[in-house]
Amino acid sequence: MSATDAAAATPFERLGGEAGVRALVDRFYDLMDLEPAYAGLRALHPVALDGSRDKLFWFLSGWLGGPNHYTDRFGHPRLRARHLPYAIGIAERDQWMACMVQAMDEQAVDTALAQRLAEALYGTADWMRNKGG
Ligand code: HEM
Repeated sequence: MSATDAAAATPFERLGGEAGVRALVDRFYDLMDLEPAYAGLRALHPVALDGSRDKLFWFLSGWLGGPNHYTDRFGHPRLRARHLPYAIGIAERDQWMACMVQAMDEQAVDTALAQRLAEALYGTADWMRNKGG
């Protein structure tokens, strides 16, 4: 991809389209399973992560400028409301972010893009907090 193409491309395209976004989401959940540092985050999730993988992949595809798989299936994401059943504080927010930053790093996402996405995702993750601490 030339510099001009890279500037015009959506984050979805720059991540490698559906295959790239799916690989990033899969690494994110693999790391959640593997890394002791994310055990608290993992414990909030169902035993089988297949549904979580699909939903985050569908959501991120649209959020990154690709196909709106999530809203096509479920309508407005209402992410904060959908996270209310899970107790999310600073520790959970920080584990989610660290897990995603590690996944982007391991998938060799371009550093500037990874930085930009991390800043935007932080806003969303922080907004999901629904308990003190
Ligand atoms: C702040 C820390 C976060 C925690 C602890 C957390 C935890 C969870 C849990 C436990 C679920 C349920 C999984 C399932 O039903 O299989 C879930 C669902 C979901 N999460 Fe998060 N999450 C966080 C942040 C985020 C962020 C930042 C995003 C988006 C960028 C996100 C996107 C989603 C989506 C799309 C779903 C599926 C919602 C549905 O349709 O039911 N989450 N999350």
